[in-house]
Amino acid sequence: MADGILAGKVAVVTGAAQGIGLATAQAFATEGAAVGLLDLNEAKAAAAAEAITAAGGRAMAEACDVRDEGSVQAAIAAVAAEYGPVNVGMCNAATLTPTFAIAELSLEDWNQALSVNLTGVFLTSKYLIPQMLSAGGGSIIITASQMARVATPGRGPYCSTKGALLQLAKVIALEHATDNICANTLSPGGVATDRLAKQYGDLERAERDWGPAHPIGRLGQPGEIARAAVYLAGDDSSFMTGADLLIDGGYAAR
Ligand SMILES: NC(=O)c1ccc[n+]([C@@H]2O[C@H](COP(=O)([O-])OP(=O)(O)OC[C@H]3O[C@@H](n4cnc5c(N)ncnc54)[C@H](O)[C@@H]3O)[C@@H](O)[C@H]2O)c1
Repeated sequence: MADGILAGKVAVVTGAAQGIGLATAQAFATEGAAVGLLDLNEAKAAAAAEAITAAGGRAMAEACDVRDEGSVQAAIAAVAAEYGPVNVGMCNAATLTPTFAIAELSLEDWNQALSVNLTGVFLTSKYLIPQMLSAGGGSIIITASQMARVATPGRGPYCSTKGALLQLAKVIALEHATDNICANTLSPGGVATDRLAKQYGDLERAERDWGPAHPIGRLGQPGEIARAAVYLAGDDSSFMTGADLLIDGGYAAR
């Protein structure tokens, strides 16, 4: 771990209690980063941080609601107080959105998606950037989706917020191109996580119903996305900014 490709980095991952965020926090720690796991579910994030620490990594958990500016600011400050200025940030938390056509969608569901998926990433980035300026640089990784490019009926809030994230990353990339701060989106296709289990009833059904929509013929695994996050977090991606890294089993190629 001490000689991993992220040795010396200080990372924050939002939505780190499970799924892609958890796999990424684990991969960052395995590669030598000190990691702050931020999540609404404090108990689950704490258990994950303890498991990383028990395996020889450096990790801490902070309760965080990415919709709440004070909560985001305090959680990022707590990680910096423990490990030093944060220079890797994965803005990954997203809410579950019900499937409704636009004409049937409530304003409440629309606003909930915007507040977590989009405003949450804005707030996390807002408080990561000063950290990275004081660290002398950094990498912001925003988890978008193949749904940022490909629309699906009934998924209006999700597709809209994920599409907006591609633009948000590009703006951050341009604003900080000469500050040694990179900002990119990472866009998974369908990945076997609790999110899909909830959406489809269980993961077997998700695999059966949605796996074949991916030309590779299956859903992705969280670890397959986490490896891409490691690439974006590390120095191997130093010439990459304002880009979208699509890891979707060919979903958006059709
Ligand atoms: N799983 C997929 O098929 C898939 C596909 C494309 C993109 N993504 C994106 O990847 C990311 C992670 O997806 P996942 O499947 O691991 O999700 P998940 O639903 O399994 O986990 C999301 C995590 O975010 C946390 N969270 C929710 N609201 C929060 C808030 N307000 N503040 C802080 N934390 C909050 C949850 O507690 C949970 O731990 C999301 O941005 C999602 O949109 C997922």
